[in-house]
Amino acid sequence: MVIAMARIVTIISGKGGVGKTTIASNLGVVLSKFGKRTVVVDGNVTTPNISLHMGIPFSPITLHDVLRGEAHIKEAIYRHPNGVSIVPGSISLTDVHDINLEKFNEVLSELSKDADVILLDAPAGLGKEALKSMEVAHDIIIVTNPDIPSVTEALKIKELARTLNKNVLGVVVNRSRGKKGELSEKEISDIIELPVIGKIPEDPNVHHSIMSKTPVVIFRPNSPSSIAMRKLGADLVGEEVNISQFGIFQRLINWLTK
Ligand SMILES: Nc1ncnc2c1ncn2[C@@H]1O[C@H](COP(=O)(O)OP(=O)(O)OP(=O)(O)O)[C@@H](O)[C@H]1O
Ligand SMILES: [Mg+2]
Repeated sequence: MVIAMARIVTIISGKGGVGKTTIASNLGVVLSKFGKRTVVVDGNVTTPNISLHMGIPFSPITLHDVLRGEAHIKEAIYRHPNGVSIVPGSISLTDVHDINLEKFNEVLSELSKDADVILLDAPAGLGKEALKSMEVAHDIIIVTNPDIPSVTEALKIKELARTLNKNVLGVVVNRSRGKKGELSEKEISDIIELPVIGKIPEDPNVHHSIMSKTPVVIFRPNSPSSIAMRKLGADLVGEEVNISQFGIFQRLINWLTK
């Protein structure tokens, strides 16, 4: 008998705050809407944040409890009303001690049994946790903003991925304003030497959605950032975005944000 294995897709960046958690939580919703059994795992062991984006209640059983051997992974899976499953990290600073990162592999293979895709929201940078998130990945998505500092850091991540012999799907450029002074898609792919697989526009709805603890694809499904997230998700699973449901105005936005 063949055991179904989930693809583990790590979403990582060199520079912090570029949009990994926003993209992981929204892609999670989009992929589950496409019928993929999707789990979003908070890999930010020291500064977790998926719960904040997805509205997971405080004090649940978290990945920390599992890595400390105090809970089973099944107890740390939360089913979001929109179908995606979430494994939250702990918000409490006191939980950071006694974490066994090696146990992470075990946790992921357990999750793989009942999932098609595991999206791992990685910590930024080149620290121990980030390295671990890359080691466990089948595929890696690098997130950057269209500016020199984050692209430079993204390049380091790409080099590290190459050293680890990992498959990098490409770069997602987030917070693109389409204005002068920011790096173009072509410049970014020339510098990092990877394809740009997604371009998410700067959109105030993202901020509002985080304030309301709901991913933007649910909060404002037809906003420019949501349309770009859906397109990215559709491309990743080889589906078409059903733009007819967006109406003529949204179709125009979709075209403009391509
Ligand atoms: N497309 C966007 N348009 C506008 N604001 C955005 C967009 N994407 C992200 N943001 C803003 O950037 C902030 C940081 O995003 P996010 O938490 O997803 O980054 P991160 O890479 O996960 O950060 P960290 O490295 O701290 O984990 C969010 O609070 C949000 O307000
Ligand atoms: Mg984050």
